Amino acid sequence: MESPVLWPYRSPPAHEAVSAIIRRRSTNAADVREIALDGFDLSLAKRVLDLGCGFGFMAEAVAPRVAPEAEIVGVDVWQANQPPFLERVAAHGRRASFNCMNVGWELPWPDGTFDLVICSYSLYFFAEVLPEIPRVLTPNGTFLALTHSRRDFPALALIVGLSAPGGEWLSIISRFSAENGGSRLGRWFGQVERVNYPNTLVFGRDEIDDLLAFLHFKLPLLLPGWQPSDELPPGVCERARKLLSMRGKLVIEKNDAVFRCRKPRTQFE
Ligand SMILES: C[S@@+](CC[C@H](N)C(=O)[O-])C[C@H]1O[C@@H](n2cnc3c(N)ncnc32)[C@H](O)[C@@H]1O
Repeated sequence: MESPVLWPYRSPPAHEAVSAIIRRRSTNAADVREIALDGFDLSLAKRVLDLGCGFGFMAEAVAPRVAPEAEIVGVDVWQANQPPFLERVAAHGRRASFNCMNVGWELPWPDGTFDLVICSYSLYFFAEVLPEIPRVLTPNGTFLALTHSRRDFPALALIVGLSAPGGEWLSIISRFSAENGGSRLGRWFGQVERVNYPNTLVFGRDEIDDLLAFLHFKLPLLLPGWQPSDELPPGVCERARKLLSMRGKLVIEKNDAVFRCRKPRTQFE
């Protein structure tokens, strides 16, 4: 059975809905995917691997930029992500396949299989696979990783009523975060370029429904044992409503980082 922290992602519609809330409530008007891909030439990429692909959020932005004959291989632990992932890639005229797989220490592809590997908000769930990424890349291959900042946790913890350092989310993010991502990647790539995506989510008094839906999605990551099928605990709802009415708005930091990596190194270099 998959870890409860992964349960929110087994329902693509719920994941897509929270993704739309994040977009609506972001102060940064730019789409993070455009920032991540701006000036990143992927036109020669023919074999692409998207680890922890979810419903295809990043694959959808990558597809129109890769070679016309490219195939994007999506990997996710939840089978339900297959249809939306395949549809999003096909909408841009690229081929796609989907592997339902729990990513761990090893990847089941030979050396040098891919021109591009993507981990969009996913590598922290399976950071142990990192040495495998340069191995499955071609020598000219590139790796694209997006991640969150550890510093974004306290605002969320306050709204939910968690006393730091509670919450599994912080320990998960700490495996590959905006703060340590560059040094982790430096061991495995000769060139690591970082692009910052400064952002905050702002929920005003009239946006309580968005706030509660956002908290509902995030709660399994913050309160171990809590299930997405459960109602939000009354204490969390009350706290969120009270804070929102006292402050007029609630601000949650969401400063992400993008790492664009070239010159893969293997274990033996
Ligand atoms: C935060 S979502 C990101 C999804 C997508 N890449 C995006 O940018 O929206 C993380 C995804 O990684 C998947 N995931 C987490 N751990 C995994 C593992 N060990 N193996 C395969 N997929 C995993 C989850 O099911 C989820 O779809």
